[in-house]
Amino acid sequence: MDTPFIVGSQIYLRPLERKDLNGRYLSWLNDPEVTRYLESGIFPCTMGELEKFYEQVTASQNQVILAIVDKSTDQHIGNVKIGPINWVHRKATFGILVGDKSFWGKGVGTEATRLMVEYGFFRLNIRRIDLGVYAEHEAAVRSYEKVGFLIEGRFREELFHEGKYKDRLWMGLLRSEYKRA
Ligand SMILES: CC(C)(COP(=O)(O)OP(=O)(O)OC[C@H]1O[C@@H](n2cnc3c(N)ncnc32)[C@H](O)[C@@H]1OP(=O)(O)O)[C@@H](O)C(=O)NCCC(=O)NCCS
Repeated sequence: MDTPFIVGSQIYLRPLERKDLNGRYLSWLNDPEVTRYLESGIFPCTMGELEKFYEQVTASQNQVILAIVDKSTDQHIGNVKIGPINWVHRKATFGILVGDKSFWGKGVGTEATRLMVEYGFFRLNIRRIDLGVYAEHEAAVRSYEKVGFLIEGRFREELFHEGKYKDRLWMGLLRSEYKRA
């Protein structure tokens, strides 16, 4: 393992490095299948924008981004992020990108979510983690539910997507109700 920060069973999380900002990572951000349910795919993403995003996230005290790495090959396959963090209310928003599609459907998203949620609750002393997701994004909703997130609200027709207006779910998880796997 290369600079592991949090170690899981299939994957580990490590600091996202400048060397990770390569053509592979950039291709995830311009791949319509990967970005289908992300705001990031709406406009094309250049290496310059990716570098700006990296500078901004890594410089911030209110966000933590980690690379998701496949344990058996040390390959960077995606990222997880907690942020923005609100230190007064002890809450944060969660985001995930498994960019390498060959890893979809193998439990990686669920495991990375769990590792990041535990980091937020038990290292950062965050009490509440929440996120927004397209209501029709079954894989994401399912993986969040498996970790314990509850649907707290539905914003009707909030998002314009593939020619239609779609609902967005707001999901939340409290430290007091989180059950370790
Ligand atoms: C959404 C995402 C994080 C899911 O990660 P993943 O590693 O593919 O998901 P997992 O393998 O952990 O599967 C989670 C659950 O969803 C189910 N699932 C996976 N793909 C599915 C699909 N296409 N339709 C319905 N359910 C699906 C799995 O079967 C599993 O449930 P189960 O254990 O009850 O069988 C990942 O696909 C991803 O990053 N996609 C691109 C970016 C994105 O959409 N991010 C989320 C924005 S909110």
